[in-house]
Amino acid sequence: NDSSLAYSVGVTLDRFIKKKQDDFPFASGELSQLLRDIALATKIVNRETNRAGLANIGGAFGQTNVQGEEQQKLDVIANIRFTRALTKGGEVCAVVSEEDDEVIDLQNSSGKYVVAIDPLDGSSNIDVNISIGTIFSIYRRVTPVGSPIQLEDIMQPGSKQVAAGYVLYGSSTMLVYTTGCGVNGFTYEQSLGEFFLSHPEMKAPEDGKIFSVNEGASKTFSKGLNAYLDTCKSREYSARYIGSLVADFHRNLLKGGIYIYPETAKNPEGKLRLLYEANALAFIAEQAGAAATDGSQRILDIQPTSLHQRTPLYIGSKKMVEEAMSFVGKDN
Ligand code: AHG
Ligand code: MN
Ligand code: MN
Ligand code: MN
Repeated sequence: NDSSLAYSVGVTLDRFIKKKQDDFPFASGELSQLLRDIALATKIVNRETNRAGLANIGGAFGQTNVQGEEQQKLDVIANIRFTRALTKGGEVCAVVSEEDDEVIDLQNSSGKYVVAIDPLDGSSNIDVNISIGTIFSIYRRVTPVGSPIQLEDIMQPGSKQVAAGYVLYGSSTMLVYTTGCGVNGFTYEQSLGEFFLSHPEMKAPEDGKIFSVNEGASKTFSKGLNAYLDTCKSREYSARYIGSLVADFHRNLLKGGIYIYPETAKNPEGKLRLLYEANALAFIAEQAGAAATDGSQRILDIQPTSLHQRTPLYIGSKKMVEEAMSFVGKDN
């Protein structure tokens, strides 16, 4: 049938990147190369994720990261794999990672790009075989190439991203990314070691009937947020919360829905990190016709002030985010 035909002559990620680059005659190919470097690391992390239980790389690493979280072995392994791929690739001058306290200066005087990355998202799900992910943001450095990296190269608002993406190590492994001209999804064919275009021009449904929030903390949610959640329940919306942001986000993007991680007693600024979780998904959301705010402003407009700063996150179908804002806005 034609779908298998399409599959057999499918567009690989490499061909897609090349075609997109041809659309930009002035493109130097460096961003294309950077995307390929990330895809390579993704294939390696995918293999290690699939073997975690067998290669004794599941479980805790035995150290705590700057977030105060107990690092999982795969957090550390994924961090090493992505940092090494970006170092070897030669396009990146600095990396901000959830798993490193400070900016990683790659000592690469010709690198034009800065990458912010959550090497493994949803670590609490690794050992129970539930989907986990990777999230990345790509910026162009603002100070002259070759000069020492400055804070302004790192502390850029999400609106300055040149590309962003996520990997979902789920029932299939997918890479979804944007360079500012729409969102495209690729599915990994293990036997060929290739990503094939499976979700061209992804668009989020404008409205939805799924809400994703950890209601275990609802005692400390704001009045407005609890009122919004009661409204969702009065309409008998579905509650779906995987505990892996990438998996919850991806489902909501395809089916319509909203993911909320608000301020809580335990996380008064919200739990998710601006630089390598919220910004990347907010860029993708907006490129797919969805929305992302911190409860009052666009995520992409937030001017970062510290590397690992957290932000409340309301992200998903435009109409759902707008309605949630109308409830939460009354809190102040
Ligand atoms: P990470 O594993 O990269 O630290 O991120 C975990 C995040 C996100 O993936 C998930 O949605 C959220 O933490 C779950 O937090 P709670 O367990 O507090 O609901
Ligand atoms: Mn973590
Ligand atoms: Mn994460
Ligand atoms: Mn993580």
